[in-house]
Amino acid sequence: MAFEPILLRNIAKPGSETIGSYLASGGYQGLRRVLKEFAPEAFVEEVKASGLRGRGGAGFPTGAKWGFLPKATDRPRYLCVNADESEPGTFKDRLLIEKDPHLVLEGIVLSAYAIRSGTAFFYIRGEFHEGARIFSRALEEARSGGFLGKNILGSGFNLEVIIYRGAGAYICGEETALLESLEGKRGLPRLKPPFPAVVGLYGCPTIINNVETLANVTLIAERGAAWYAGIGRPPKNTGPKLFCLSGHVKRPGVYEAALGVPLMELIHEYALGMMHPDRPLKAVVPGGSSMKILPASKCDVLMDFDSLAAAGTMLGSAGGFVMDSSTCIVDALLNIARFYAHESCGQCTPCREGTGWFVKVLRRLEHGEGRPGDVDLLLDVARKVEGNTICPFGEAIAWPVQSYVEEFREEFDDHVARRACPLARMAAS
Ligand SMILES: Cc1cc2nc3c(=O)[nH]c(=O)nc-3n(C[C@H](O)[C@H](O)[C@H](O)COP(=O)(O)O)c2cc1C
Ligand code: SF4
Repeated sequence: MAFEPILLRNIAKPGSETIGSYLASGGYQGLRRVLKEFAPEAFVEEVKASGLRGRGGAGFPTGAKWGFLPKATDRPRYLCVNADESEPGTFKDRLLIEKDPHLVLEGIVLSAYAIRSGTAFFYIRGEFHEGARIFSRALEEARSGGFLGKNILGSGFNLEVIIYRGAGAYICGEETALLESLEGKRGLPRLKPPFPAVVGLYGCPTIINNVETLANVTLIAERGAAWYAGIGRPPKNTGPKLFCLSGHVKRPGVYEAALGVPLMELIHEYALGMMHPDRPLKAVVPGGSSMKILPASKCDVLMDFDSLAAAGTMLGSAGGFVMDSSTCIVDALLNIARFYAHESCGQCTPCREGTGWFVKVLRRLEHGEGRPGDVDLLLDVARKVEGNTICPFGEAIAWPVQSYVEEFREEFDDHVARRACPLARMAAS
């Protein structure tokens, strides 16, 4: 656990959210350097060379995404910041917004410069009242300091950042639903292609990036791509990463480590081990509620995009939750399924109906009313949802259902055979 925090280096300082504290720690030096030394396209190349991959869920290379913007266009280009953070188990962006908003804002100005955008939208989850208040003050401070607005630091570059508060829907974190919501409509995902880089906000070329991704851009500007690319597991899993840990650990929280930190090190050293030492680890969902589960036997894994993909799951938004032997896997899946049934936007039949089916079948299994064939029915519905929907929300519930059943099939069958939840009975006796 020798990693010295870089993304979280300021958060423990008193008044860390103020520009005074940020400037005292060398803040906005990266912006100064880039505006002086890099043309926008050269900074895009710098970000490509750093190996930075998006921290919002899909892990798409950031510089490559910026490169998809049409070269010649007379339309405005927009940058949209995804601060919706509604994936259960994920609470890292909130920490950055509330404790170090200028680190995020500097990344926004740098990224807008790189893609030649004069307007950025900061789409923040409706429930983040405190974050919206703090970020709005950070905007005012940056404007007064010459880091935002017209002719930033005398460079001729202009940028306005507009805060837009969502109404509290999980689906508005999906990038095209976010765009619809920003346009004042219901947050219903769009079919892709066309991709937002070509046809995005108000039909204009648009880049959508996650809050943590943009904070990483600040680090690249400050210390250079070569330094950044040396952290983690180059060439494809570089940089520092925020990992959220919750569930049955002694000290839940947000921890920073290099990409590729072992999952067991996160649990035992960062989060101080299992909450109840007499209850062994049963499973971990490493990447947020929409990712596949790893049973304890598969938890000896590195926490980076490619290692987790090889282990059959994904890093996702790095919202890890840890379950001990007292957890009923059927009940855990029911909990997740209820969330997805509530949050489905309802546009696609497989998602709208399938999520309802998952809840219905899981509820009867958990309540001792499971029928022979119910477990296969879950898998069958999941197969029909996967790949047949407008947006990846369909997979976000199909994958947990498939993996929880495949990894813990006996426990599901046991619910049917006993006509009861075995763990509930144990707890009651
Ligand atoms: C259902 C759903 C919810 C999502 N929620 C979020 C979110 O809350 N925050 C986020 O940054 N990305 C979220 N994403 C991913 C975004 O669509 C998008 O890929 C991301 O914001 C791109 O930023 P990045 O390239 O910097 O990672 C979600 C995706 C899906 C399918
Ligand atoms: S998959 Fe679900 S959330 Fe996504 S568009 Fe279809 S119904 Fe809406």
